[in-house]
Amino acid sequence: MLNFNFQNPTHIHFGEGQISALSSEVPIDARVLVVYGGGSIKANGVYQQVVDALSEHTWFEFSGIEPNPSYDTLMKAQAIIQSENIDYILAVGGGSVVDGAKFIAAAALFEGDEPWDILAKQAEFNHALPIGAVLTLPATGSESNGNSVVTRDGNKLPFSSPLVRPLFAVLDPTVTLSLSDRQISNGVVDAFVHTIEQYLTYSVNGKVQDRFSEGLLQTLIEEGPKALTPDTKEDLAVRANIMWSATMALNGLIGAGVPQDWSTHMIGHELTGAFGIDHARTLSIVLPSVMKVRREQKREKLLQYAARVWQVTEGDEEARIDEAIRLTEQFFKDMQVPTRLSDVELGNKDIDTLVSRLEQHGMVALGEQGDITLEVSRKILEQAL
Ligand code: NZQ
Ligand code: ZN
Repeated sequence: MLNFNFQNPTHIHFGEGQISALSSEVPIDARVLVVYGGGSIKANGVYQQVVDALSEHTWFEFSGIEPNPSYDTLMKAQAIIQSENIDYILAVGGGSVVDGAKFIAAAALFEGDEPWDILAKQAEFNHALPIGAVLTLPATGSESNGNSVVTRDGNKLPFSSPLVRPLFAVLDPTVTLSLSDRQISNGVVDAFVHTIEQYLTYSVNGKVQDRFSEGLLQTLIEEGPKALTPDTKEDLAVRANIMWSATMALNGLIGAGVPQDWSTHMIGHELTGAFGIDHARTLSIVLPSVMKVRREQKREKLLQYAARVWQVTEGDEEARIDEAIRLTEQFFKDMQVPTRLSDVELGNKDIDTLVSRLEQHGMVALGEQGDITLEVSRKILEQAL
């Protein structure tokens, strides 16, 4: 196992009715900015629950944070932060809103030239406004990690800091009942790929991390399709298991002390930046191809994945790996997401664009060994045609 530091101080309030916890979690003397997206929280009653819980607080609101939040939109929040002396951000929404809140919180106290540098130059910052979160879409893990992804002019860039990790997060599975099938699928697939990217590398004998990851993968494989099936999709136990899996997949626990390979995400971000494809749908296209192209480097873990996650133990090594990859693709198909570039009307001609964007963003040494060069990324994309 590799050396690691691990701390996750986000206080989780899990279960039905927990939005009421806001009344005590948000400091009573705070000047709160409630930030949210395009209005789903008004249609499903979450907004009203927040309003009720904050009835004794001083709060303002900023809406319109879009999926794959844009820098220009987020910068508009700075005016109200200044004019109303905001000192606390409450994000109410999916990963885009929580990520957006993180950027808003860091930009508000940024002392450098331009907050864009936080993304473009990975500029350091020493202060950020405190953040709380009410999560409405289980997927990203953003509610209890320090990561954020922001887009400007098609450049989709991540930043990370413990200063923007939410102090608390409310996870009420009932609020996920209003999600469309597409968003449920996206969430399950995103959490699945987060787990894989911290698991499917090379072995460092991290037994705890491996078995936690295998448990999360199996839970998502079992519960994901149920959330799309008419008889079971409203089952709150299904929703709860998916929601907690998604949080656990990217709260730092399973990634502590093990190598990580975020190549699927980094290549996927270019697909979203250039062509507007939903985040999770980029991952379901890229991941099977990463498994195929990186088969030798990941051989040992692919065999472990085949045996422990899919119970594939028959046949020689090649056959077992083939079967594990096939089952992964089948799972994505069952979750109704694309597994090929051609499924989203992209082809060979688009690969140059993607590779040059990877280069422009410095994504030239990806993977657990840093050996996924632009040439290897090209192979991965070609394999996904
Ligand atoms: O904007 P509203 O009206 O809220 O609608 C949203 C949005 O249209 C809707 N929605 C959310 N909760 C709902 C709901 N609709 C009905 N009922 C509900 N309960 O769903 C749509 C998509 O929301 P979004 O927040 O964009 O989805 P997701 O949570 O998948 O977040 C995706 C973003 O997170 C980033 C992605 O790159 C992408 O920008 N990621 C963040 C990560 C992190 N912070 O650690 C890691 C991830 O890998 C990912 O990169
Ligand atoms: Zn993701």
